[in-house]
Amino acid sequence: MKDRASQTAAMVAAARALGAQLPPQAQLAADPDGFRFVHPTIAAALRERGAFTAALRLPGPLRRWIVYMQVRTRVIDDALREFVAAGGRQVLLLGAGYDCRAHRLAEHLEGAAVFEVDHPATQRRKRKILDSSTQPRGAARYLPWDFERQPMADLPAALAAAGHKASEPTLVVWEGVTMYLTKDAIEATVAAVRVLGSAGSRLVFTYFDRAHVLGQAPWPSRLARAAVAQVGEPWRWGWAPAELPGWLAERRLELVSDTSMPQAAARLLPARWAREVRERAPWRARLAAIGYERIAVTGMG
Ligand SMILES: C[S@@+](CC[C@H](N)C(=O)[O-])C[C@H]1O[C@@H](n2cnc3c(N)ncnc32)[C@H](O)[C@@H]1O
Repeated sequence: MKDRASQTAAMVAAARALGAQLPPQAQLAADPDGFRFVHPTIAAALRERGAFTAALRLPGPLRRWIVYMQVRTRVIDDALREFVAAGGRQVLLLGAGYDCRAHRLAEHLEGAAVFEVDHPATQRRKRKILDSSTQPRGAARYLPWDFERQPMADLPAALAAAGHKASEPTLVVWEGVTMYLTKDAIEATVAAVRVLGSAGSRLVFTYFDRAHVLGQAPWPSRLARAAVAQVGEPWRWGWAPAELPGWLAERRLELVSDTSMPQAAARLLPARWAREVRERAPWRARLAAIGYERIAVTGMG
């Protein structure tokens, strides 16, 4: 990513906000702040469409993208709530983007410290928008960091200076980021996470199945890949799900669960809405990449 605020982060935030346009049985997380990070004209158009169009009549790809983002957000929200309920008091959002968990889940996070580490350009824009807001802000502590250009080995010390305690458990969330990084940045980030996470810590991350995203993917994935490359954020990395447990074990991380989006949707949504997130045969796929993202939860002993 170049020195520009992430555009994919704005798209994801808008998709989360649009969840409010779904019928109640399909809503899994509310993110009213999400619209604030997209261009005001686009935000107004999206709001208008939501207000005047029944959710079922939203264009198919947009509807699937919104439902999918509800599922992804909820799985990670649940992991955070579980961690805090078990006594965890430190949350670290790596590549936080416009994720507003710090104040969206403020009620659950009371007494916990939330650290946000992100590309300097994205974080600058986020802070500017939140600072100009009259809405209450969460208690995030911000640390600008470029995973590709700054030494990740220095991150634990920088976090310590911001108040992070490596001796206490941390929930590290790396949502929608791994696919944008190089192999070197992935390795360096995981090594840094291992240093700053004590026993009882967790790393929750989403990733793309390498075969579908980096190999000979079906055409909708290739289209999506071309679109993100066009905005300067090409997909670069994925894991083969079968190889992930071994890869993590070599880095002293234990895979606790690895869930596909369709599996998570089937668990969280009524069948009619879970179908929106199912994997489709390539010739029927509309936004194939959504079926190929997975959510991994790992433990640190
Ligand atoms: C698709 S967004 C996801 C944002 C957020 N985690 C979410 O799910 O809403 C990708 C994020 O990765 C961050 N990112 C990409 N490359 C990065 C890099 N080299 N260093 C730091 N952050 C990076 C972007 O700034 C952006 O916030």
